[in-house]
Parts: sequence; structure tokens; C-alpha cells
Amino acid sequence: MGIRIIGTGMYVPERILTNADLEKMVDTSDEWITTRTGIKNRRIADAETTTSDLAFQAARNALLMADLPASSLDLIIVATVTPDKVFPSTACLLQTKLGAGPCLCFDLEAACSGLLYAIEVAHAMMAASPNYRRALVVGAEKLSAITDWTDRNTCVIFGDGAGAVILDKSDDYANDFYLAGKLCADGQYADILQLPAGGSALPASHTTVDERQHYVKMGGSKTFQMAISLMANTCAELLEQTGMSWNQVRWLIPHQANERILTAVGARLGIPERVYVNIRDYGNTSSASIGIALDELNRAGKIQPGDFIMLTAFGGGLTWGALLLRW
Ligand code: UT7
Repeated sequence: MGIRIIGTGMYVPERILTNADLEKMVDTSDEWITTRTGIKNRRIADAETTTSDLAFQAARNALLMADLPASSLDLIIVATVTPDKVFPSTACLLQTKLGAGPCLCFDLEAACSGLLYAIEVAHAMMAASPNYRRALVVGAEKLSAITDWTDRNTCVIFGDGAGAVILDKSDDYANDFYLAGKLCADGQYADILQLPAGGSALPASHTTVDERQHYVKMGGSKTFQMAISLMANTCAELLEQTGMSWNQVRWLIPHQANERILTAVGARLGIPERVYVNIRDYGNTSSASIGIALDELNRAGKIQPGDFIMLTAFGGGLTWGALLLRW
């Protein structure tokens, strides 16, 4: 009995927001954004499009690749910090859009580490219970809805999108895709990356709106430093735990936080050429970024059956971690 990833999918909205567009919105420049973040373009959803719409497109593409109907799913997890509504969950809304049956559906909130957390949870549920044979795991974000378009410290970074994987359990699979995982959190650092208002701590009011408290607030440089050391250290520890070497790992797929972070992680681990980077085109899409990267690599034939890949992420919470997978 094994569990495998049998489908991947991604979706990004059509509208492209360029650095030149941002130059007209805030006091910034293409040169600053390019050299400090590596980002040239990001995709922005229109006002009517919700996170569950983005998740739906990515999930449909993953189901098409797996050649499976949505009715065959036993479990749907959506990782997101931009749910359509506080409740019901975006996973329930996605279930209906897909036409899936009455399966178990829930959202998981671990910010940019969301997809890794969700894969960890889905795998553990599938391994433990005969009730879950097939799972859809989606990372989906409409970050444009929580971005302060007057704040140059944050608005140049984020973009919208979704990435999905289908996990399948079968006696036919000799191997399991999951080799090792290490997922962590430290709530002491909750304040450095957060959306302050709209929850029970600071319910929505005229004051919270006037003070722009419904947008992402980020301590950029502190986050930057911690992202590098926590992702690099966790990947190194995980690899050591398995007794494998970096020569055996085809790709390191990090959350696309900032190109300088990804370059620094690759340099620390001594594998700069194997770090997958696509932030130039999409910006930082939080829990969606690793799913988008996985699907791009998969569809381009750059991951082959049997390849070992390491996923790593870091985000609000703080949360971070890494998964070592066999494709
Ligand atoms: O997704 C997971 C969590 N998020 C991250 O991992 C993001 C991590 N952080 C970052 O990516 C970077 O810290 C940023 C891209 C957000 C900022 O880059 P930085 O190199 O850390 O810049 P900084 O915040 O230290 O600011 C340096 C200067 C400041 O000016 P002064 O005080 O030196 O005069 C900022 O006001 O750059 C200024 N600045 C800008 N200038 C032009 C900040 N944002 C901009 C901007 N355009 N958009």
C-alpha cells in the first residue's frame, strides 16, 4: 500500500500587474522591485473572482491530469489566508463548485507554509484511516484582497493564484511519495507578519477600516532574515535525518517569498542550481506558490517518476517546514 501524487494543477488570473503599473501607484521603481525581490509581474484577480474560484480552476486541472471525477474525492483541504468568507470554509465552497460528493472538507491556515501543512495532514489522515483513499489539497490565495495598495513595503510583493495536488492511495503503489517531513511553528513571532483586524481580537469597525487594519502588515527585514535561516536549517536537518545527500535531490522547491531569500537558501545548502524560482512572473502567492511551482515542473517534464524533491516554506505564525518527497 502506498500514497502517490497522481495529478497537479495551477491557475493564475489573466490580469498582469507590472512593476511599471506599480510605479504609478506608490513611490517605487522597477529597478528597486527587481533588485530587492526579483519580481517583474504578478497576477491580480478581478473583483468578482474569489479564492474558491482560483482553487476551482487549479483543482479541475489537477483532476484532469489524474483523469478522475471530483466525485471520487474523500477529502478536500484548502490552505489559505484569504478564504472567501470567515465561514463556511472555502473547502466547502470548492466542493460544491467541483460537484464533489459529501466528503470531509476543511480549510487550513498556516500562511505561506499552508500547502506543506496541508499535504502533511492529508498524508497522515490517508495513512491512518481507510476512509480517505483520495485527497485534493489546494493552496489558493487572493492576496490582492488583503493588500494595502498604498503601502510600498508590501504591495509590490504579493500576487494571486492557486496550486493543487491529488493524492491517491492504492495497493498497486509499491512506494509512498512521502519520505520525511518536519513542520514547525513559533507563535512568539506572531506580530511580525499579520492581518490585525476582522477577527475576535479586533472586530471590523469604522475605526479599523479608517486605520487600514484589514491589510497585511509585515516586518520585512526581520521576516527576511528568519526565512533564510529557518528554511535552510530545516532542509539540512531533514536531509540528514534520511541519510540522503543533496546529490540525490533533483529540485529544492521553496515558497516564492523573495528571490534574494531563495538565492541565499540555495547558497547555504550548496545547491544554487537546483533551486526552482518563478517569482519573477507571479510574485509571492503565499500558500499557492509551491503548488504552482510543482505543476510547472511536472508539466514541463522536469520531474520524473522516482525523482526526489524537497519542498520548503516559511510564513506568518510563524510557521515553517520542509517535506522530502519521492515523485
Ligand atoms: O512570504 C513569506 C513571508 N514574507 C517574506 O518572506 C518577505 C520577506 N521580506 C522581504 O522580502 C523584504 O524585506 C522586502 C522586499 C519586503 C523589503 O526589502 P528590504 O531589502 O528588506 O528593504 P527594507 O524593508 O529594509 O527597506 C529598505 C529601504 C527603506 O528605505 P530607507 O529607510 O532605507 O530610506 C524602505 O523605505 O527601501 C525602502 N522601500 C522601498 N523603496 C522603493 C521599501 N519598499 C520599497 C519599495 N520601493 N517598494
